[in-house]
Amino acid sequence: MLNFNFYNPTHIVFGKDTLDQLNSLVPADAKVLITYGGGSVNRFGTLDKVIQNLPGRKIFQFGGIEPNPQYNTLMKAVQIAKDENVDFLLAVGGGSVMDGTKFIALASRYEGDCLDLLTPEFDLAPVDSAIPMGTVVTLPATGSEMNNGAVISHKNLKVPVFSMFTFPKFSILDPTLTFTLPTTQVANGIIDTFIHTVEQYVTYPVDARFQDRTAEGILKTLIEIGKTTIEEPTNYDARANLVWCATMALNGLIGAGVPQDWTTHMIGHEVTAMFGVDHAKTLAILQPAIWEVRKEQKRAKLIQYAERVWDITECDEDLKIELGIQKTRAFFEELGVKTHLSDYDITEEKIEDLILALKNNNRTALSETGDLTLEISREILKKAL
Ligand code: NZQ
Ligand code: ZN
Repeated sequence: MLNFNFYNPTHIVFGKDTLDQLNSLVPADAKVLITYGGGSVNRFGTLDKVIQNLPGRKIFQFGGIEPNPQYNTLMKAVQIAKDENVDFLLAVGGGSVMDGTKFIALASRYEGDCLDLLTPEFDLAPVDSAIPMGTVVTLPATGSEMNNGAVISHKNLKVPVFSMFTFPKFSILDPTLTFTLPTTQVANGIIDTFIHTVEQYVTYPVDARFQDRTAEGILKTLIEIGKTTIEEPTNYDARANLVWCATMALNGLIGAGVPQDWTTHMIGHEVTAMFGVDHAKTLAILQPAIWEVRKEQKRAKLIQYAERVWDITECDEDLKIELGIQKTRAFFEELGVKTHLSDYDITEEKIEDLILALKNNNRTALSETGDLTLEISREILKKAL
């Protein structure tokens, strides 16, 4: 096992009818800026319930944080937070709202040019404080509710933001708040969670048994409940399992002490930035292609994945790898998500544009060992057609 630091201070409140706990979680004298997206929280009554559970606080609201949250939109909220001396932020929404709120938390306390907070090389943002924040999760997918990362869009780039000050103080995970999600967003959530897990698991073995078995537990759970939670959106148990898997897949636990890849995410972010394809859909397109191209580098873990996650035991090792990849693709397709670039009208001529974007963004040495060059990214994108 590799050395690691594991730190996670986020308080999780999980379950049905838990919004009333907001009253004890948000300081009684706080000036709260509630942030949200394009209106689903208005339509389904979540925002009203949140406000009802914050008696006595001075409440401000900022709606309109878009999927793939934009720097310019978020800077408008920063102005409100500064003008009104806001001292608590409450994100009510999915990954975009939570990520955007992390940025608002940092930028509101930052004296310099807020573009400095976007750190393409995954450095920590140059800050020494942030407005404390909490979240009410309405879309299980990104794990943003229990990590300190965010992805902010600026001028057709998706840029990471990290800080030790952006772990939410608390996150309320009430699976019933996710019942209103459209099918395609539930599928996105399952796939994003699945890929977060394999980015930290299908690498090379380091004898990290707990991390491997926890990752396998998440993957098997997603396979078990995936179709059910799409077909039966109000099936509480299925949805509760998805919500908890999404949080556990990217809160640092399964990634501690193991190599991590993140190639799928890095190439996927370029596809989203250039063509507007949903984050999770880019991952469903790229993951099978990446494994096809990287079979040798990931051989031991792909065999373990096939055996332990898909129960493929009765054939030779090469076939195990092949069947594991095929079953993964079939799982995504069964959830209603297409897995080829061409399904999204992205043709071969566009591949060079993507390669140029990867080059410009310095994504030239990807993977768990840093050996994945632009040439290999090109091969992956061709395979993904
Ligand atoms: O904006 P509203 O009207 O609220 O609608 C949203 C949005 O259109 C809708 N929605 C959310 N909850 C709903 C609902 N509709 C009905 N009922 C509900 N309960 O869903 C749509 C998508 O929301 P979004 O927040 O964009 O989705 P997701 O949670 O998948 O977040 C994606 C963003 O997270 C980033 C991605 O890059 C992308 O920008 N990521 C963040 C990560 C992190 N912080 O650790 C890691 C991830 O890998 C990812 O990169
Ligand atoms: Zn993701």
